[in-house]
Amino acid sequence: MNCAVITGAASGIGRACALRLAATGATVALLDRHGADGTRREIEDRGGKAVGFGVDVTDDDAVRDVVGRLPAPPRVLVNAAGIIVRKKLLECTVEEWRRVVDVNLTGYFVLLRNVIPAMSAAGGGSIVQIASIAGHTGYGFSSYTAAKGGVLALTRQLAAELAEHRIRINSVSPGVVESGLNRDTLGNQAIRQATVDNIPLGRLGEPDDIARVVAFLAGPEADFVTGADLVADGGMISTIHWGKAGAELHSFHSEER
Ligand SMILES: NC(=O)c1ccc[n+]([C@@H]2O[C@H](COP(=O)([O-])OP(=O)(O)OC[C@H]3O[C@@H](n4cnc5c(N)ncnc54)[C@H](O)[C@@H]3O)[C@@H](O)[C@H]2O)c1
Repeated sequence: MNCAVITGAASGIGRACALRLAATGATVALLDRHGADGTRREIEDRGGKAVGFGVDVTDDDAVRDVVGRLPAPPRVLVNAAGIIVRKKLLECTVEEWRRVVDVNLTGYFVLLRNVIPAMSAAGGGSIVQIASIAGHTGYGFSSYTAAKGGVLALTRQLAAELAEHRIRINSVSPGVVESGLNRDTLGNQAIRQATVDNIPLGRLGEPDDIARVVAFLAGPEADFVTGADLVADGGMISTIHWGKAGAELHSFHSEER
């Protein structure tokens, strides 16, 4: 029996990843600062196996304790726990900056440092880190963007470092996905419409849009893929710099010049 460890599993993308990985037959370990009883019950109701842990991903001792109590050796890790503070650089306090980087980047490190030895001892595995299009673009808020850029760089760095442990590591960069993280912003109709207008596929992401990509990267279909980032954003970063000007440009045709 193998185990898939998922952080941020109480809500949104982490919850969707847990449901999807449990459906593949994995026993899932659900880590969340609030516990993840709701997700655990959903999985059990569908006949899957899950165990929940109330743990803050920035707490190294607590995470080490959880990894020591996993129901089976970890063969998959999904780092998804995250927070956002929507403030421009000059509005952001040092405490807010530290907390965002602490959860979104150092929290990933804490899981990596505790899970990798057990994964390696079990014969290897696959790690998927949830980054963001914010880490690729200027679409976001400084502390969050900096942390997500860090996740992208860390994932590339670790591809070579972890290969000798037979561990693959990749990231997924979601666009705008309906979840707890942006319930406030997407509850504002003007922001919601402007966001959808910027997505070529014409809709917001659902958590399961991301979970399907995570399941692909975590599974055997992707066994030659490591150090990659897969953008799942409905095409948003392909057009984001054009905005409405893009529509005008594309209606303009000219002969060869
Ligand atoms: N929703 C989006 O549009 C979007 C876009 C790009 C990336 N992401 C990323 O996806 C990941 C999942 O976020 P989501 O959108 O599902 O949001 P969400 O708020 O629905 O879920 C995040 C979960 O992480 C947990 N969490 C937060 N801090 C924690 C901590 N210190 N320790 C343990 N658990 C903690 C929360 O309790 C929550 O259950 C995050 O890394 C986020 O940055 C989200």
